[in-house]
Amino acid sequence: MNTWMRNPKLLRWRNGVLLVLTLSTFIIIYNMKIPTTLRWIERLRDVPDSCPSSISEQSITPLGNTKHFLVSAYMDQRVKGFDIRIIGIFKRDSIEPLYCSFCCEGVFNKTTPATILINRAHFGFPFGATYVLCKIPESCDASHVTVLTQPFTKNVSDPIWLPIRNKQSDKLKERKLNFTVCISTLFGNYNNVLQVAQSLEMYRLLGVNRVVIYNTSCGPELERLLQSYSQEGFVEMVPWPIDRFLNPSSGWLFSEHGGDLHYFGQIVTLNECVYRSMERSHYVLLNDIDEIIMPYKHDNLISLMNMLEPQHSNVGEFLIENHVFPKKHFDPSGRFHLPQWEKVPGSNILEHIYREEPDRKTYPPQKMIIQPRLVEQTSVHKVLKNFGQQYYMPPALCHAIHVRTTQRESLKLEDLHEDKRLWHFQEKLIPNVDKVLKRAGLIN
Ligand SMILES: *[C@@H]1O[C@H](CO)[C@@H](O)[C@H](O)[C@H]1NC(C)=O
Ligand SMILES: *[C@@H]1O[C@H](CO)[C@@H](O)[C@H](O)[C@H]1NC(C)=O
Ligand SMILES: *[C@@H]1O[C@H](CO)[C@@H](O)[C@H](O)[C@H]1NC(C)=O
Ligand SMILES: *[C@@H]1O[C@H](CO)[C@@H](O)[C@H](O)[C@H]1NC(C)=O
Repeated sequence: MNTWMRNPKLLRWRNGVLLVLTLSTFIIIYNMKIPTTLRWIERLRDVPDSCPSSISEQSITPLGNTKHFLVSAYMDQRVKGFDIRIIGIFKRDSIEPLYCSFCCEGVFNKTTPATILINRAHFGFPFGATYVLCKIPESCDASHVTVLTQPFTKNVSDPIWLPIRNKQSDKLKERKLNFTVCISTLFGNYNNVLQVAQSLEMYRLLGVNRVVIYNTSCGPELERLLQSYSQEGFVEMVPWPIDRFLNPSSGWLFSEHGGDLHYFGQIVTLNECVYRSMERSHYVLLNDIDEIIMPYKHDNLISLMNMLEPQHSNVGEFLIENHVFPKKHFDPSGRFHLPQWEKVPGSNILEHIYREEPDRKTYPPQKMIIQPRLVEQTSVHKVLKNFGQQYYMPPALCHAIHVRTTQRESLKLEDLHEDKRLWHFQEKLIPNVDKVLKRAGLIN
């Protein structure tokens, strides 16, 4: 019985361990100093663990005890009384009082009440793009934020923290970009590879530095192309698995299309992209992946905007007319029906040279170039809250080229305008497209 107690070797070993433990406890407590120790004890008593314990790695994070989702958090001090803007997807009929809690240098700090604003471009769907605005407690250098359903209490169970982006310290870190294109959502089995490669290479020739794409899903060849672009760094893929959380609509109007959320969350991703780009990109282009915002009097967007900037530095929103080039009409010469692209899925935009005049009597289908620092809330075709002015770009100066199915069935070929603007870039565009298709293993 208790043989080990009589074993002097084991006894000596146990005493040694005890001595080391006691000594190290002393050293730790001595080095921590008394106030810190007291704070630790206090924290153990009535505050959860130090923070941030669990940080969200996802672009869509369910908000505990609610029907809502959080997307990302940004420093934004442009609206008086607020420091933080969290972008979310909220169930519009279930808005309850909410509180922000901050992680200040590793300490779970007190909460401040949240102000909830719903973007009015919800098109009747039950869920909508939402902004949660909060103030940071005084003298708190916040690194992370979380949203709670109650003011700070002892029983908050392991909250999920969002990193706060666009902080002063982030502003200097990244390379300054002139133009970023935001592509709101990619979904279904979209596999229009040739048109996407041509559009992306056109953007590059026009001076675009970054293309942000929110990806729910895409077709197999497009997947290879985008993987290759994102490895190179020109394209930034943001995972957007919205279909895992909601029943997203592939239409834009609830009464017609049903579902939980407008067009795979397009309003959420567009706004997310505006805030993501705010501190790193001078201009942001909000257009679809099959649209090219094309200057007609300048060789690229840089010289176009450099020309406009002196008189229009306060413009937050440049509205660009969208012009459809119907897919059903081809250039009769076949000059750019190139053999190497024969087997690549998708439309060849160089073959579509007939432009429909937009029907300006109905809703103007414009897209935008914005200065993100002057924009607070956006929809698809216009900005909803702007700190700056609005400017209608004269179509002769710049408009969007949109190769797609016709929007005006009644127009005949004779009613369309011949427009070979894209051909102006063919000498560089064709080899660049060949190069990226080769790199992705889509042509030999
Ligand atoms: C919140 O942070 C401030 C500044 O760091 C600190 O003085 C205060 O004690 C913190 N409050 C709590 C509850 O941790
Ligand atoms: C926290 O405690 C309060 C009061 O005891 C209770 O009403 C509330 O439901 C609890 N909240 C959570 C998240 O457990
Ligand atoms: C941005 O545009 C300027 C000309 O206005 C050019 O000198 C600079 O290289 C461009 N920056 C990038 C990152 O392309
Ligand atoms: C797009 O999302 C799908 C679904 O999550 C994923 O399988 C695919 O790899 C993503 N593609 C890219 C290029 O990021």
